[in-house]
Parts: sequence; C-alpha cells; structure tokens
Amino acid sequence: MDFQENDTETTCDSGQVSNQDDRRNDNAYALAVVPYDEDKLSPFHLAERKFKLAGRELVIRQSWRELGVAAVVWDAAVVLGEYLETEVTLTDQTVVELGAGTGLTGMVAALQGAKVTITEREMALASLRRNVESNILPGTTRHPVAIKELTWGQNLHLYPTSYQYVIGADIIYIKETFQDLLKTLVHLSNYETVVLLGCKIRYERDTNFLKMLEEKFEVKEVRYDQRRDIRLYKARLRSCTSL
Ligand SMILES: C[S@@+](CC[C@H](N)C(=O)[O-])C[C@H]1O[C@@H](n2cnc3c(N)ncnc32)[C@H](O)[C@@H]1O
Repeated sequence: MDFQENDTETTCDSGQVSNQDDRRNDNAYALAVVPYDEDKLSPFHLAERKFKLAGRELVIRQSWRELGVAAVVWDAAVVLGEYLETEVTLTDQTVVELGAGTGLTGMVAALQGAKVTITEREMALASLRRNVESNILPGTTRHPVAIKELTWGQNLHLYPTSYQYVIGADIIYIKETFQDLLKTLVHLSNYETVVLLGCKIRYERDTNFLKMLEEKFEVKEVRYDQRRDIRLYKARLRSCTSL
C-alpha cells in the first residue's frame, strides 16, 4: 500500500484518539493515507499475518479498520527486521523503537538478545501490547520487553539519552511531525548511538526529512530492497551536533 498526498478520503479514523496531538496526527492521516491499489492493500485487511524472523514465527494481529496505519505491518518493518537479524549484533544492546505499530521490528531486536523499549502513540498502545504479549512470552527473551508511550517531541525527559540503537520503520511520512521526530532522534542519541530507519520514499517531503536528518546526523544508505522498494538508512550524530 502507498500513501496518496491530496485526497480527502480516509480509512483510518479510529475514533479512539486520546489527546490533541493524536487528533492533529489523525487529521494529517486523513490527508496523507489513502489506499489506492486494492491488490497491494489486501495484506492490510488480513486479521492475522505470519512472519519468519529471528528464528521464530511471529504472528501479528492486524486491525486496519479500527486503528489504520498503526495496526498493520509495513514492508519497512520486515526489511528492517531482516537487517537486524543478519547484520547487527544486538546481544545486551539497548534499543528503542519509535512508531512501532504492531511492534514487529522491536520484537526481532528482543529475540536477538537486545534490551528493547518499544514505543507508540497512546491510541495504538493496546494493539501493540497485544501483539508483543502474544509473541514474546515472559522469560523467553534475554531481557524483558518494555512497551511505552512516546509521541514524538513530547515528554522526552522521560527517556534516556543514551540508547545504543534507535530504530524506526516507515515513520517518515507526515510532514507536520518531522521537526518533532528529528528532535526525538537527537534526544535519544549520543555520539555512539546507531539510528536505523527503514523507509519507503514516496514523496519529495520524505526526501526533505532526510535532508533535515543530514544536518544533525551522518547518514548512509545501507540496504535497498528492490522488490519492496524499501531503503534502510544508518545514521550517527555528527560530532558538531550539540547534545
Ligand atoms: C506507517 S506506520 C509504521 C508502523 C510500523 N513501524 C511498521 O513499519 O509496521 C507509522 C507509525 O508511526 C506512528 N506515528 C505517527 N505519528 C507519530 C507521532 N507523532 N509520535 C509517535 N508515533 C507516531 C503511527 O502511530 C504508526 O504506528
């Protein structure tokens, strides 16, 4: 599925928004998210999808009609999960996932031995929690998985500034959130932190975010999945970026 820029129809108004920022974001979704290809759309309407990652079968419950974009698995999450599985040693590393949706990527990190905090907006936390709890049973990962609310740019003082990895899949898509997202990435990072972003570049605005990112971080494309048209970017804070 793709996003379409200027249409007015939306299928993701959950009616479960909890505060002004969620409402503002969901209005942005109304402008940004329109499925226009029924064939590509179909996986999003499945109630359940299975993924083989990190030596496990992960079973993800989706609920597009209730929660929209936050309650389905996006290709970027799968590509980032595959990258974590094969290219990164995560044992005992601290990882925070932003805009986790169903939490697939964060779960892969946890299964790879990382100490993971999976974050989302308040409105999508219950669905996220259900998926994580049904896949990661207590005591089955090296570290327990934490699930927390994190709306970009808000209450950042509640989060440490020293994660070893900050990860996010398909979180670059609402122009109105770009400043807050960047602020969040900077807050969560120190000069050693590796930021890994799985991205579908759909519009010029997405490229504009990458330019904003490059002002604060050294950014390198480390993978391009041609079949799914997903790019993975690895970023580290520039030494001239003040913390
Ligand atoms: C396209 S979905 C990607 C979900 C998941 N990472 C995946 O790839 O399957 C974008 C996610 O970003 C989250 N999001 C959007 N705006 C946000 C904000 N201001 N703060 C935190 N999360 C946000 C949404 O709730 C949604 O889960």
